[in-house]
Amino acid sequence: TGPELFQPERPNSKGFDLHHTPTLDQIDAARDQFRAHHWYAQPLLADAAKPDADEPVINPARPQDRPGAVAPASAADVEMALASANPWDAPAAERAGILNAAADLYEAHYGELFALLAREAGKSLPDAVAELREAVDFLRYYAANIPDAEPAGIFTCISPWNFPLAIFSGQISAALATGNAVLAKPAPQTPLIAHRAIQLMHEAGVPRDVLQLLPGGPAVGAALTSDPRVSGVAFTGSTATALKIRAAMAGSMRPGTPLIAETGGLNAMIVDSTALPEQAVQSIIESAFQSAGQRCSALRCLYLQEDIADDVLTMLKGAMDALSVGDPWLLSTDCGPVIDEQARQGIAEHVTKARHEGRVLKELPLPPEGIFVAPTLIEIPGIAALEREVFGPVLHIARFKSQEIDKIIADINATGYGLTFGLHTRIDDRVQHVTEAIHAGNIYVNRNQIGAIVGSQPFGGEGLSGTGPKAGGPNYMIRFCAPDRQSTAD
Ligand code: NAD
Ligand code: ALA
Repeated sequence: TGPELFQPERPNSKGFDLHHTPTLDQIDAARDQFRAHHWYAQPLLADAAKPDADEPVINPARPQDRPGAVAPASAADVEMALASANPWDAPAAERAGILNAAADLYEAHYGELFALLAREAGKSLPDAVAELREAVDFLRYYAANIPDAEPAGIFTCISPWNFPLAIFSGQISAALATGNAVLAKPAPQTPLIAHRAIQLMHEAGVPRDVLQLLPGGPAVGAALTSDPRVSGVAFTGSTATALKIRAAMAGSMRPGTPLIAETGGLNAMIVDSTALPEQAVQSIIESAFQSAGQRCSALRCLYLQEDIADDVLTMLKGAMDALSVGDPWLLSTDCGPVIDEQARQGIAEHVTKARHEGRVLKELPLPPEGIFVAPTLIEIPGIAALEREVFGPVLHIARFKSQEIDKIIADINATGYGLTFGLHTRIDDRVQHVTEAIHAGNIYVNRNQIGAIVGSQPFGGEGLSGTGPKAGGPNYMIRFCAPDRQSTAD
C-alpha cells in the first residue's frame, strides 16, 4: 500500500466548529425547520409502486414525538429488487464524480440530517456533526481510491442503527464505487435517515436500478443474505447476527461469496500510575459516555492501577456530574437516550444485577421522560466477568497491580473480541510492550478510543469483532470486487 492511498483527491470534510457561536446559531436555525417535520421511508426500488408508510418511527428521547413512518419491504419487494438490480457500468471517473456530488448534497442538507439524527437516532449535536463528517469522508475517500478491478455483481449492505448515516453510506459507497449493484437494508430503528440518504444519492446521479433501498428487520436481511444472485455481503452489527448471516450464506450462496462483517467489541483501556490523570479522565468520559456508549468502539472495561485508582475515580465521578443527560435536540446535551425500549431493558437488567450485588459506584439521575440509561460506573474484578457487550453508557472498572499487566493483557485477549483498546501511560517501553501484545484492530495511546478518522485511521476489528478489511482504509474496496482481483485483507 503506497502512501498515495492515504491521500484522497479531496480532503476530509471540515465539519462544523461548535465552539464558534455564529456557526452554532446557523446550525440551530437550519435544524429548526425540521423540528416537527414528518418523514416517510418506503422501499426505493428500480421501478415499483410505493406502499403506504404506516409503521411509526419513534423519537427515543421524546415519547410523544413521531418523526415519521415506514413501510417495510415485503418478500415481493425483495424479489423485485433482486430481479431488477444492475451493476453500475459507468466509467470509474463518472462513478467517483457522482459519489462526490452525493457528498456535497449531504453537506448541503446538514440541517435536515442533524434533525433526523437527533429525532430518529437520539444523537447529540456533536455526535451528529461527527457522523455527517464521517459519512461525507467515506463517500469522498472511496470515490478517490477506486481499484482497477471488476465489480463482484450485486452487493447486499446491512447496517446498524448506531451510525445510521455514516456506516450506512460507507458500506454503500464502497460497493458503488467499485461498480456493484447495491441492495441496502438499514436498521429497523432508523429507516428515515436511510431513505433520505438514498434519495440524495439518486439525486446526485446514482441510477435507481443500481441502488435500491429495502427497509425492514431481520426477515428482510435474511432474504438478502441467502439468495444466490447476491455476490457479496457487507454487514455491520452484532457478532451474533454476523454468525447467523455467515451460516445462512454458507447454506445457500456460491462458495467464496465474500462476507465483510464489522461486529461488536468488549473494549478495554489500561491507565497506569504514570498517566496524566486529567488527560485520562477526559478520555474515559468521551470513550465511555459519548453517543450514550452506543458505539462499537466504546470503552467497556477500564483497568486502573491500584495506587492511582481512588484519585482517578474521584475525578471521574466529578466529571460525570458535569455531564448533561437529556434530549439531544438541546445544544447542551452530552449524553442522549438509548435507541429503544428493548435496548434499555437489557442494559437496565445488567445495572440492576450489579446494584443488588453492591457493585455500582456511581449512577447519574434519569431525565423525567424518554428511553434513557443514566451513565453508570460498575466495579468488576476484571474483563472476564463481562458476559456480553453492554451497549450503553455503563462503564466497568477493575483495579490492577503493576506486576499484573501481562495477566490483564491475556484476559483482554481471551475475550475473543478485538476492536478498540486504549492505553494511558508515560512509559515508552510499556507502550511498545502492551500495544504489541494486545489483539485489537484500533489501538489508541494517551487519547480517547472512539472516532476513527476515514483515510488516516482505517477502522475494524479482529476475532469476534470482525472479518476485516478495515473500513476507510486502502484494502477495503478490493473486497467488493470480483474474486480473481482481490488481495489479502489488512
Ligand atoms: P444487530 O446485529 O441487531 O442488527 C444489525 C443489522 O442486522 C440490522 O439492520 C438488522 O435488522 C440486521 N439483521 C438482524 N438479524 C438479521 C439476520 N438474521 N439476517 C440478516 N440481517 C439481520 O445490531 P444493532 O443492534 O443494529 O447494532 C449494534 C451492534 O453493532 C453492536 O454489537 C455494535 O458493537 C455493532 N457495531 C459494530 C461496528 C463496527 O464497525 N465493528 C459499528 C457499529 C456497530
Ligand atoms: N468508527 C467509529 C469509531 O471509531 C465506530 O468510533
